[in-house]
Amino acid sequence: MGLKTGEWRRCRAFPAPPHHGGWQQAPASGERRLLRSLTDGSHPSTAQAAGSEFVHPPGNSLQPTASSLHGGRLLRHARCLCSNADGHYSELLWRNFRQRFGTMQYDYSKNRDEHPEPIKADVNGLIPEWLQGMLIRNGPGLFSLGETRYNHWFDGMALLHSFTIKKGEVTYRSKYLQGDTYNSNMQANRIVVSEMGTMAYPDPCKNIFSKVITFLSHTIPDFTDNCANNIIKYGNDYHATSETNYIRKIDPMTLETQEKVDYLKYLPVNIVASHTHYDKEGNSYSMGTCIAEKGKTKYTLFKVPGGSGSDGSPPLKSAEVVCTVPCRSLLTPSYYHSFGMTDNYFVFIEQPLKLDVLKMATAYLRGVSWASCMKFHPEDSTLIHLIDRKTKKEVGIKFYTGAMAVYHQVNAFEDDGHVVFDVICYDDNSLYEMFYLDKLKEQMGADTMYCKPKCKRFVLPLSDMGETGEDLVKLKYTTASAVKEKEGKVLCQGEVLCDGVELPRINYNFNGKKYRYSYMCCVDISPVATKIVKFDAETKQKIEWTGGDCFASEPVFIPRPDAVDEDDGVVLTCIINAKPVQGGFLLVLDGKSFKEVSRACIDVDFHMDMHGYFIPDSS
Ligand SMILES: [Fe+2]
Repeated sequence: MGLKTGEWRRCRAFPAPPHHGGWQQAPASGERRLLRSLTDGSHPSTAQAAGSEFVHPPGNSLQPTASSLHGGRLLRHARCLCSNADGHYSELLWRNFRQRFGTMQYDYSKNRDEHPEPIKADVNGLIPEWLQGMLIRNGPGLFSLGETRYNHWFDGMALLHSFTIKKGEVTYRSKYLQGDTYNSNMQANRIVVSEMGTMAYPDPCKNIFSKVITFLSHTIPDFTDNCANNIIKYGNDYHATSETNYIRKIDPMTLETQEKVDYLKYLPVNIVASHTHYDKEGNSYSMGTCIAEKGKTKYTLFKVPGGSGSDGSPPLKSAEVVCTVPCRSLLTPSYYHSFGMTDNYFVFIEQPLKLDVLKMATAYLRGVSWASCMKFHPEDSTLIHLIDRKTKKEVGIKFYTGAMAVYHQVNAFEDDGHVVFDVICYDDNSLYEMFYLDKLKEQMGADTMYCKPKCKRFVLPLSDMGETGEDLVKLKYTTASAVKEKEGKVLCQGEVLCDGVELPRINYNFNGKKYRYSYMCCVDISPVATKIVKFDAETKQKIEWTGGDCFASEPVFIPRPDAVDEDDGVVLTCIINAKPVQGGFLLVLDGKSFKEVSRACIDVDFHMDMHGYFIPDSS
């Protein structure tokens, strides 16, 4: 007996474990596709979805969605499954849903055009007078060249773009970062420089002996200068960055590529996190790892003074090491992407997502990517290092929690003898894994093996005075705990503030301070965001903005000059139209109400980017 229109049943094809409340997991890609249709708004019953609550056909109750580690694999649980009477999913039904509601697809592997000449936007609504400056964003834009292609989306060649806002008008331009990597690749008309997820060989015809010789020069990898992740300010200079020892200075006005800067000339760091912190004096703080000196592997926090480089020298010439933290395992340092900073402390999460230095050294010869040398160790704990900025030493308490993978820290602050920090965390390294271009193609239009990120709050007590077994967290507003196990050792458990969010930004004037609001991409269903969200950490309330058939990039909060309220300002985000012929727009939202103030429409098929930096006109 087939499935009648509007009929909903539990699937009987795959027995559900009791703790799933009778609702089952999708075991294969075909079925996952159907599940996706149930959760992406393309399903009739979910078309009126509001936030994470889905409307369901009358007469049935909903189960909350969750992800869990089950049988060694992360599987998404369904709220409801659509099946025919035999207990199998109806592909016909799925196709009907698709025809009726369509699917939004973002082609991650599509090469994008650059638009180096300024394009004037068509502005709808009124851009606030005080909003003057430039939003520069960075992300991968070119994924294949000649007969070669990158394996991973993060590997794509850096395409910078900027929105210049002046007197209510907006101009747009974009330009590829023309570093050594870009120039070598273009000259050869193929990918000849390796990226994290793609090992490239300059001459594929070379025999094994010449490969061995080249291998020797790759033992300590000479990394790429394809800086496609973020924009960092050192001194008065702006740089495109990824996470290697190279950054590229850029001209923010024209997006022209300027000098190549090698961290290794100034500091012992081969890998540097692409997120930096700034203090009120304009000093920058970054963190890197020295992986080259075996046996001396360590993490280094360094400061680049504001205003340095004014004499024409690279600002990094004035860099000073703030402190170093030894790696807990010398040959397998942790990967990290960001860290936290308060007035008195740095927070560094040494997570069990580790780089195997020895494997990296032989990756070239073995013909595998460096990314294959990065492994998540669920059996390990996560160490949380709290470093006193005055003494430049770690506090005497060893804080740890269960295995997790963190890319982005939201904020950190001190409160009544505690350090509180909020992070976006995963149960494994599925964030990196899901961005392989083949996987993205496979997953597009299908429900994914998606490990939904959680925004978690951790609290570190600054004293471990108390009984063994006592929860040392005394703050009333959080359920995060820090239980004393023995003298100097504390087990932390985070509080989940919300889930399905990524790419967090805050009012940076509140960085390191007690804060309420964060602005994030909503990745509730898949890693590609169709909504952005304002989250209130105090009330746990969310306000969402969605524009229908579009994809949203990281929302950047710009405070109104002299504002008192934390959320007094605007949020800027770059919106990609799912129908590229219609172009995209820069969206301006009110920071308080999260309502649209204006949009600057540009007839360009934007690329999905990673991070942005706003340069106000005053600077
Ligand atoms: Fe990032």
